[in-house]
Amino acid sequence: MYKKSAEFYDALYHFKNYKEASEKLRNIIYRFNPKAKTLLDTACGTGKHIEYLREYFDAEGLDINEDLLNIAKQRCPEILFHLQSMIDFDLRKKYDVVTCLFSSIAYVKSVDNLFSAVSCMAEHLNPGGLLIIEPWFSRDTFWTDIVTVNHYDGKDLKITWMYTPKAENDLSILEINYLVGTPAEVTYFKERHELGLFDDSQYRSAMEKTGLKIEYDKYGLFGRGMYIGIKN
Ligand SMILES: C[S@@+](CC[C@H](N)C(=O)[O-])C[C@H]1O[C@@H](n2cnc3c(N)ncnc32)[C@H](O)[C@@H]1O
Repeated sequence: MYKKSAEFYDALYHFKNYKEASEKLRNIIYRFNPKAKTLLDTACGTGKHIEYLREYFDAEGLDINEDLLNIAKQRCPEILFHLQSMIDFDLRKKYDVVTCLFSSIAYVKSVDNLFSAVSCMAEHLNPGGLLIIEPWFSRDTFWTDIVTVNHYDGKDLKITWMYTPKAENDLSILEINYLVGTPAEVTYFKERHELGLFDDSQYRSAMEKTGLKIEYDKYGLFGRGMYIGIKN
């Protein structure tokens, strides 16, 4: 996953507008739960959504990657971040909103883990609370036989990262090649990302099993759709 690339995460995804996404998210939250005050962002990465959401919510973050969380802590020093897996966590606390954004849910890889993660997330909701999940692609919508490339062009940091997406059974495999240049040197490394290709019915049944009522937003924050589970 994000091992060697963790320190470059923000540069790699410089093209994402987190401010705009967080504003959209806030509007969606208030549409379904106008009184929402507390929020847990699971798989929060470097805390770029929390950076904007903290103005409106008592926010906390959770992620399995310590390097990414360290960047999040620098970005939002007053915020509580939990170093835990979304598949199996118990913070002994409940929130008005639990989020899992930018397709992070697919890193759980298996359907069993999907059910476990969604169950943990739902367990952490107050009555009327919202579980908001931005899914990854399904087997039908995931593209293979293409090459994907992205570039970051900063003054003292330049990155090109490239991969040819593959699907094996119900897993998408991204063997990402990174070429990173600084004034000191140019380095190359490779990282393997494996994400589960869950379909709509699997997301829905994982949420329904926990008793959540589901709303679906076709676009979501980033064009990949969004599930909104509402707890009774
Ligand atoms: C694509 S990044 C998204 C990060 C952040 N939500 C964002 O929008 O920038 C995927 C994130 O999922 C996290 N992740 C993967 N598996 C996880 C797990 N089992 N528990 C918690 N976080 C996990 C990674 O560490 C990474 O931060």
